[in-house]
Amino acid sequence: MTKRGLPRILVTAGPTREYLDPTRFISNPSGGKMGYLIAKEAQRKGFEVILVSGPTGLKAPPVRIIRVVSALEMNRVVQRHFPSCDVLVMTAAVADFRPRTFYRRKIKKINADRNIKLKLNPDILAWAGRHKGGRLLVGFSAETDRIIHHAESKLKNKKLDLIIANKIDYPGVGFEADSLKYVMLEPDKKPACLQVAKKNKVAKEIMAWILRKICP
Ligand code: CTP
Repeated sequence: MTKRGLPRILVTAGPTREYLDPTRFISNPSGGKMGYLIAKEAQRKGFEVILVSGPTGLKAPPVRIIRVVSALEMNRVVQRHFPSCDVLVMTAAVADFRPRTFYRRKIKKINADRNIKLKLNPDILAWAGRHKGGRLLVGFSAETDRIIHHAESKLKNKKLDLIIANKIDYPGVGFEADSLKYVMLEPDKKPACLQVAKKNKVAKEIMAWILRKICP
């Protein structure tokens, strides 16, 4: 809670970029819409919001925004602000790997070793799960297959209170689209069926769920 008694929420959004040299990076197609909509809705509901955003072309909502590029930067910012927050919502599509070496000078293709060595990035949400205390943790799970199975294991392994399982290979939904094919999963509850909805409706549904948990 803040000094004024407002609940504080940390929302991550967008992709991370893992640079190999100043001209090349590993990333994913996340556009950041889901996280920005949640941040906006949280602010509307009276939360103090910190939005940690990877590179996106979106207009910033009227909340405190901390811009990051890589997974390591996002990890540092989340770990700094998590202790003073009541809720963490990780919508960010954190790149799981980064190149083992960052080359300060552009690699010339003639000299390139085509086997890029990768290193695993930290799992930000799993860390939050290990340090959650009384905080609420919400995660996302974007998959092409065995949607519920994979989401249920992330829910359990990362000690989440809610996970939004979503199917990305379906027409009109996914990373850069305005809609999501999704189902919300909670521990020890039987999952419903996947449904398609606009991301702004999903953001409202997630915030309504968080509010019910915070002020039952
Ligand atoms: N996440 C995270 N840090 C990572 C990777 C993922 O905090 N290094 C978070 C995401 O923001 C999301 C959740 O964990 O809320 C699930 O991410 P996802 O990429 O779907 O799954 P992973 O745990 O990375 O597992 P896998 O890539 O094997 O599916």
